[in-house]
Amino acid sequence: MDRIRIKGGRPLSGDIAIGGAKNAALPLMAAGLLTEERLELHNVPRLADIDTMAALLAQHGIAVEPDGRVLRLGGAITNTEAPYDIVRKMRASVLVLGPLLARVGEARVSLPGGCAIGTRPVDLHLKGLEQMGAEIRLDAGYIHAAVRGRLRGATIVLPFASVGATENLLMAAALADGQTVLVNAAREPEIGDLVACLVAMGARIAGTGTDRLVIEGVAQLTGARHAILPDRIETGTYACAAAITGGSVRLVGAQMEHLGAVARVLREAGVEIEEQPDALLVRRLNGLHGADAMTEPYPGFPTDMQAQYMALMAVAEGAAMVTETIFENRFMHVPELNRMGARINVHGASAIVRGVPMLSGAPVMATDLRASVSLVLAGLAARGETVVNRVYHLDRGYEAVERKLAACGAEIVREEG
Ligand code: UD1
Repeated sequence: MDRIRIKGGRPLSGDIAIGGAKNAALPLMAAGLLTEERLELHNVPRLADIDTMAALLAQHGIAVEPDGRVLRLGGAITNTEAPYDIVRKMRASVLVLGPLLARVGEARVSLPGGCAIGTRPVDLHLKGLEQMGAEIRLDAGYIHAAVRGRLRGATIVLPFASVGATENLLMAAALADGQTVLVNAAREPEIGDLVACLVAMGARIAGTGTDRLVIEGVAQLTGARHAILPDRIETGTYACAAAITGGSVRLVGAQMEHLGAVARVLREAGVEIEEQPDALLVRRLNGLHGADAMTEPYPGFPTDMQAQYMALMAVAEGAAMVTETIFENRFMHVPELNRMGARINVHGASAIVRGVPMLSGAPVMATDLRASVSLVLAGLAARGETVVNRVYHLDRGYEAVERKLAACGAEIVREEG
């Protein structure tokens, strides 16, 4: 397994290109199941999760043609099973359920099961599809779903604004018979991106950007071309990298619009963020100070930025309270950060981070993507050497992380193992 070795203490300086959003690309690829015609996605990031979704689509019979950052999808569905071996690698695989049901009336999708950051059930996806007329049975670790004829439009009230459930139901509703109203829908920008692509494919959807999406089902969708929006989590992560090293980095292609609460909290902590025509300039000229953050559905502070922000707060002056409300077990980075000299105490869903003047390098490892990158950030600021193990987590969601950081002056190398 590869490792990343970092010698900390160098302020970052330079440009970092921000890629297309992983969490938009995955549902957009699943949308390729909604039509036999060609769906051409642009600005696709090069990530392990994208390869996993491509393998899943290929398994369903879809032709997947990568061409640099362009991905062309098309063809008939020949198989409706999403096998355990693929789904266990990536929960987002469950996003094929709605499209398969809507297109061909049946699907057999492995239950994703638990993961490092919590139990993460898919009950809201299933209940919504049942309301649309699907018959769903769980057997031997698989979801067996079928519908006679077409799915029917329904009014579905989500008890929690789940991102994945909103996406699955949105795609199913696009091809359902009649009107679907999704109440308390998630409002993440990646959902707006999916809506934009579905509309380009001929779907009729109103209410984009709000928590009430109204979908008039159509009989058929067509091919389309769509460019994926920039990754706001990658943007926030490199903004933290600039801040934690006291550096100055231009995040090329990043957009302020979707940073929302992250920009607000970083500024409160003493980080400067300036909008430029093609980039965001992020720098820290003075000291960092503790500022609280609580994760919430968009437009709140994203849970996917919690670990990185905690690494930043570990070296701020004063204390910060970081509260996690989305996942029940998303503090696995805390013991590792503490091994690097951080002073973090977890009390239930909140962590008190008491800033220290300096972290110290250590061998560390993490069990999920964002936790892993938080250790990379800590390593950039720490005295001495940090070795981050289990790099495959990073490769799921960060393209060329060591190259992007090294180009800005970080002493960081990947060691193949
Ligand atoms: C997506 C993101 C992930 C991010 C998360 C929250 C993708 C591919 N992944 O994941 O990076 O951390 O949003 O912003 O876009 N829940 C249920 N029942 C359900 C569905 C969800 O109880 O049927 C719970 C989950 O266990 C979790 C919470 O709702 O506690 C949020 O989950 P959800 O918004 O669905 O996240 P994902 O779509 O899995």
